[in-house]
Amino acid sequence: MAIANHKGGVGKTGIAQGLITAAAEAGQRVLAVDMDAQGNLTRRLRAQVPAAPEDRARASLASVLQRPAVGEIERILVPCGYDDPTYSERITIAPGHLELELLSLTAGTASAEKRLLRALHGVTDAFDLVVIDCPPNLLSHQIDIAFSAADVLLLPCEAEYDAVESARRIYERVDRDRHTLNPDLAVAGMVVNRFRPNLNVHQERVAEIANVRGADHVCPTRVHELVAVKGQAEHARPLRADTTPQGREAADAFRDIHSWLRSRTATVMGATA
Ligand SMILES: Nc1ncnc2c1ncn2[C@@H]1O[C@H](COP(=O)(O)OP(=O)(O)O)[C@@H](O)[C@H]1O
Ligand SMILES: [Mg+2]
Repeated sequence: MAIANHKGGVGKTGIAQGLITAAAEAGQRVLAVDMDAQGNLTRRLRAQVPAAPEDRARASLASVLQRPAVGEIERILVPCGYDDPTYSERITIAPGHLELELLSLTAGTASAEKRLLRALHGVTDAFDLVVIDCPPNLLSHQIDIAFSAADVLLLPCEAEYDAVESARRIYERVDRDRHTLNPDLAVAGMVVNRFRPNLNVHQERVAEIANVRGADHVCPTRVHELVAVKGQAEHARPLRADTTPQGREAADAFRDIHSWLRSRTATVMGATA
C-alpha cells in the first residue's frame, strides 16, 4: 500500500505510522518502506540505522534502489526500535535516506520505475502488509517507483478546499498512467486527517471529498486534530504509549481505519483483478 498526496504536511507519514502500529497490534507483520528522502517514518519508528553518515546511505533504500538485485531490500531491513515486542517483533523498516532524491537522475534508464518492485520481490511474502510512505509530490520518479510496486493507494487529505482539487488530480493521474506504470494499481480511497468536528466548514469539505469518487472512497473514521497524534511523531512512539483518553481515542481511530482498509483493499483489488 502506497500512502501518497502531492501536498506536504497533510499527514502522510502520521497516517503511515498510525496504520503500521495498528496493524502490528492486530497481529500483522508489517514492512514499512520509507520512500521519502526526509526519512521521517524511519525516525518515528526508531529504526536502528548506522551512526556514521556514509554507512547510513549504504544501509538505506537509496542504496538498494540504485540497481537492485531481485529481493535486495532484504539486506537493509531493520526492526522497529520501540520497546514493546508487539511492535519490535512485528514491524520491519526499509530506512529512507536523503539520497533517495538522486534517483531522479537515473529516471530514463530501462525499467527504472520497477526498481522497488524488483527489490521487494519474494521479500514481501514474509509480511501481511507493506506500507510505502511517499514523498510530497505526484509526478516524480520516486512516485513512479512507489506506484509501480503498490497494489493499492491510500490518500491522506485534510478537510480543506485545496484538498478536494488535490484528490481529483491524484485520481486523474492514476487513471491516466495506470496502464503504463501498473495496471493492477487500485485506489483504496482517502482518509481525512486533522478533522475538527466542531467546524462547519470541515463537515462541508468532507461532503465534497465524498463527491470526488463516491462516499465509499472515504474512510468513515477521520483522524482528528489531536495533540496525541502530534505526539506519536514528536516522541517517536506508538499512540498506545499515550495513556491519556486522547491517546486512546487516536489509537482506536487507527484501529478502525486499519480495519476499514482491510475490507476496502479486498474490494478494490478484486475489482482491478
Ligand atoms: N491529526 C493530527 N493532529 C495533530 N497533528 C498532526 C496530525 N496529523 C499530522 N500532524 C502533525 O503535522 C505535521 C505534518 O505531518 P506529517 O505526517 O509529517 O505529514 P506529511 O508526511 O504529509 O508531510 C507533523 O508534525 C505531524 O505530527
Ligand atoms: Mg511525510
